[in-house]
Amino acid sequence: MSGSLLASDLFDVKGIVAVVTGGGSGTWCTPSCFCPYKLTNSPIGLGLLIARALAVNGAKKVFILGRRKNVLEDAARDIGLDNVVPVQCDITNQQDLKTAVTLIEKDVGYINLLVANSGIGGPSGSAPPQASISQVQDVLFNIPMDEFTNTFHVNSTGVFYTIVAFLSLLDAGNNDKTYQNGRSQVIATSSIGGFHRKITAGFAYSISKAATTMLMKVLATYLVPYRIRANIICPGIFPTDLTASLIDEKDSTEEGAFPLDQIPAERAGLPEDIAGPLLYLASRAGAYCNGNCVITDGGRLSVLPATY
Ligand SMILES: NC(=O)c1ccc[n+]([C@@H]2O[C@H](COP(=O)([O-])OP(=O)(O)OC[C@H]3O[C@@H](n4cnc5c(N)ncnc54)[C@H](OP(=O)(O)O)[C@@H]3O)[C@@H](O)[C@H]2O)c1
Repeated sequence: MSGSLLASDLFDVKGIVAVVTGGGSGTWCTPSCFCPYKLTNSPIGLGLLIARALAVNGAKKVFILGRRKNVLEDAARDIGLDNVVPVQCDITNQQDLKTAVTLIEKDVGYINLLVANSGIGGPSGSAPPQASISQVQDVLFNIPMDEFTNTFHVNSTGVFYTIVAFLSLLDAGNNDKTYQNGRSQVIATSSIGGFHRKITAGFAYSISKAATTMLMKVLATYLVPYRIRANIICPGIFPTDLTASLIDEKDSTEEGAFPLDQIPAERAGLPEDIAGPLLYLASRAGAYCNGNCVITDGGRLSVLPATY
């Protein structure tokens, strides 16, 4: 028995109820970010792109979560559809998570999809090329330990508690047989930083994202009895608050902005490069994926030493 193979059916997300953390976007990098790209302004964050992709394609409700109420409200206004609902929530605060769950429970009573997308970068700490071992030691030892741990707190611990907080609503979502025959899903935005061995965004960031990726793989197994699926999107470089304008003021998304040996696609990611994989995983097209990791990086992992 097969259904429709039309793209409009395969990638259809009409009617789904989704939660997107970090869905209003905002400042990902700390002001002291040391990334090599000198990236400043932010066009749009990945969570907002994800929320927008779901909303414009007819999701019933998209709840966008984040700490800054004004950013969430601006995002909802910007999308301009009444299916986007801002919910203030710090994912590192269990009470905030409970409050958000209660609010969504009262509003709709279930969710089909949770996108655990919130994340932070940093802390900075990179030694100059050819640094002596004592310079390296100095730079790395001077990274405040609490900043290092905070990156884990948001990117790994916060993602874990977000998912746990929404389990009952994901379970309730399984009564909705129109969504993948009653198989709700969690998708985490991890990063290729969790796979490559070159430290480009800090030790804490890379290894916290490796933890996020592993967490999702573990959950894909752990949640099998509950028919809740867990998948991962690993983006490469996208021009968000972290990565907005590129080296030499070039538009990072223009082909040619990056050399082939840094990104084979020769550019940073465009909105379609995150919305496409998201719609794939969220829809019938990706319904057979569980424990899967979709890399969307223009081939960057192919030119970096990586564990993938
Ligand atoms: N841009 C890239 O090149 C790239 C590459 C790989 C992976 N990623 C990942 O993509 C995700 C989105 O990042 P982005 O690049 O789109 O940057 P962004 O625009 O700064 O988005 C980060 C979002 O996380 C939210 N957030 C941070 N701490 C939070 C907390 N404690 N509680 C709730 N929300 C919190 C922020 O909202 P508030 O500040 O309002 O809370 C913001 O909306 C992150 O997980 C990031 O690691 C990005």
